[in-house]
Amino acid sequence: MAEHEKKATVQEVHPPRWPETCKEEVAEILRRYPEGRERSAILPLLHLAMREREGRYVALSDIEAIAEICGVSPAYVNSVCSFYSMFKRQPIGKYLITVCGNMACHLLAGGDKLVQHMEQTLGIKVGETTPDGLITLEVTGECLAACDLAPVMHVNTEYVVKMTPAKFDALVADLRAGKGPDAFLEKLPLMNGEDQDTWPGFVDAPCACQEARAAEEAEAAPADAPNATPAEEKGE
Ligand code: FES
Repeated sequence: MAEHEKKATVQEVHPPRWPETCKEEVAEILRRYPEGRERSAILPLLHLAMREREGRYVALSDIEAIAEICGVSPAYVNSVCSFYSMFKRQPIGKYLITVCGNMACHLLAGGDKLVQHMEQTLGIKVGETTPDGLITLEVTGECLAACDLAPVMHVNTEYVVKMTPAKFDALVADLRAGKGPDAFLEKLPLMNGEDQDTWPGFVDAPCACQEARAAEEAEAAPADAPNATPAEEKGE
């Protein structure tokens, strides 16, 4: 058994309670998929399992529970879980700081130096959690998809962008003071520069293909329209 799996087993203090306590939510997740396709629920169930476990990680017994619910082998669930780096197999801190280690952030915008500074500020190395269990630091090789705002990092699932050593220290001071990361989280501007909060949104705006289809239908309409009535022909 790999070293990280041994640690996960040791840290596991109770079998999952979520199959019982989140029964309704599990049923709702399963309802999204057609009968016989229960394995499609593995990803949302992994998220649920991780959310519900103290230390926010996926334990072996979570894998087994999901396998049973989805009618697949634990090895299959494990293969899905291990493919995605956001599913943790060991307990993590209350705040997971994920620093982008891809080219624009790490090499061009000084992210590599910034990580060294983060390690100093936190007193831990990448991959470790502060002794108080507050912060876990990790660097991901995947681009976090905000390269123009490099260097970029996530605090849990939210963005903090244009990171500097001073900004990082202020963030950590707030986290240690129990203030939470809110002051530093940023909603990314949309690609056209508009603000996410004020933009009317994607839901109501017709997509390009809908507009093209509407234009085609409008063009075709006169040919398909019923013949004019005798009264219309006379101009009455
Ligand atoms: S390289 Fe860091 S967000 Fe793309």
